[in-house]
Amino acid sequence: MGFIHVQDVLTGKLTGKEVSLRGWVYRKRDQKEMVFLILRDSTGVIQLACKGIEEARKATIESSIQVSGIVKEDKRAPGGLEIQVKDLTIVGLAETFPISKDLSEEFTRDVRHLWIRSQKLRRIFKIRSEVFRAIHDFCRSRGFIEIQSPIFTTAACEGGSSLFEVKYFDKELYLSQSWQLHAEAMIYSLEKIYTITPAFRAEKSRTKRHISEYWTAEIEAAWMGHEELMEFGEDMILHVVAHVLKHCEKELKELERDLTELKELKKPFPRISYKEAIEKLGKKWGHEITDKDERELIEKLGGKPVFLTKFPRDMKAFYMRPDTKDPKVVLASDLLVPEVGEIIGGSERIYDVKELLESIKIFKLDKKHYEWYLDLRRYGTVPHSGFGLGIERLVMWISGTEHIMDTIPFPRTMTRFYP
Ligand code: 4AD
Ligand code: MG
Repeated sequence: MGFIHVQDVLTGKLTGKEVSLRGWVYRKRDQKEMVFLILRDSTGVIQLACKGIEEARKATIESSIQVSGIVKEDKRAPGGLEIQVKDLTIVGLAETFPISKDLSEEFTRDVRHLWIRSQKLRRIFKIRSEVFRAIHDFCRSRGFIEIQSPIFTTAACEGGSSLFEVKYFDKELYLSQSWQLHAEAMIYSLEKIYTITPAFRAEKSRTKRHISEYWTAEIEAAWMGHEELMEFGEDMILHVVAHVLKHCEKELKELERDLTELKELKKPFPRISYKEAIEKLGKKWGHEITDKDERELIEKLGGKPVFLTKFPRDMKAFYMRPDTKDPKVVLASDLLVPEVGEIIGGSERIYDVKELLESIKIFKLDKKHYEWYLDLRRYGTVPHSGFGLGIERLVMWISGTEHIMDTIPFPRTMTRFYP
């Protein structure tokens, strides 16, 4: 047998057998006769009982090691199993590891490149990886084609205030806020498309759910209306949650996530219009829904995901289609989830060229930046819709992680960009 993983040992099927593992020293307890090490690898941790093994005494926290030994049951060991080590080799002897006592958020973020090794982040990143897989599986199962859009862009998609300017040779360009505008061009070729991409927002707000570089799963579909878009989003969320429950139940439990909320998730998610929402909140028309309002709404509606729909036009983006029955609101929806708030933002798009020109005027945008985008309405326009789903916010909710920064390996915020 070659090297196996901690997880293979923890199945209990190898008890009594000799195994070889490699990983890092997670904990160390020196005793007279024995040294107890906890070995960690990408799948978990296991106790190593080292009797008469000199190398074990030399091994420091976070040293990389290879060991062979016999798997034994031991009630006192974490996981109920340990390895009685016969042979141990230090591969990379670690200097004194800087993360020991001070586990403050500030400090662990300063040494993020090392904190990445923590059990908490490992579990969250495993879930994150399964979220990506589930989104790909879901979109493909619905006949959506994966396609990419540029990151260097010339115009705002979601308003100028959160644009990142970058020097582009002797010009100024922006980092993409969303693949959407270019995606709208691509549906004329591929009809139903999706991507998972980085997106950039120069967010000055320091909240638990904003970072300046985040990942988003975006979809765009020709012939799709707003109702159908919400149903698609709902099905995607149900699929992702079921997939993560299936593949990461262990990690969810270790993170102490309440599984009932996830297991009991059902469609349809309630839909509530902006108008109904402000009535529930006791606010007046025109009130901007805050993070706190979102949480309050979810609470009032039973503590489950909810679609907030039909926002006043001036609160949303220029490309959103006004409701023909009530043109002061747009056919847009945000999916709100408990603890996190908005995770999906989507809408039906204006597809009439005159209406779009009008909207560009209302939103005081410079038409010359949107000429190519207007062309899409000039040559064979079709009704269409799409949304963006923030991956980190979804991972936050599913894993029960309090701060968005812990759902991405190297978070970027206004004040954090190192390491
Ligand atoms: O609601 P937003 O701004 O919508 C758009 O960008 C559309 N163009 C998407 C589309 O229709 N294709 O952003 C979509 C989602 C939000 O619901 C949120 O989950 C996430 O992106 N998001 C952020 N996540 C983390 N940090 C930030 N600063 C985010 N800004 C948006
Ligand atoms: Mg939004």
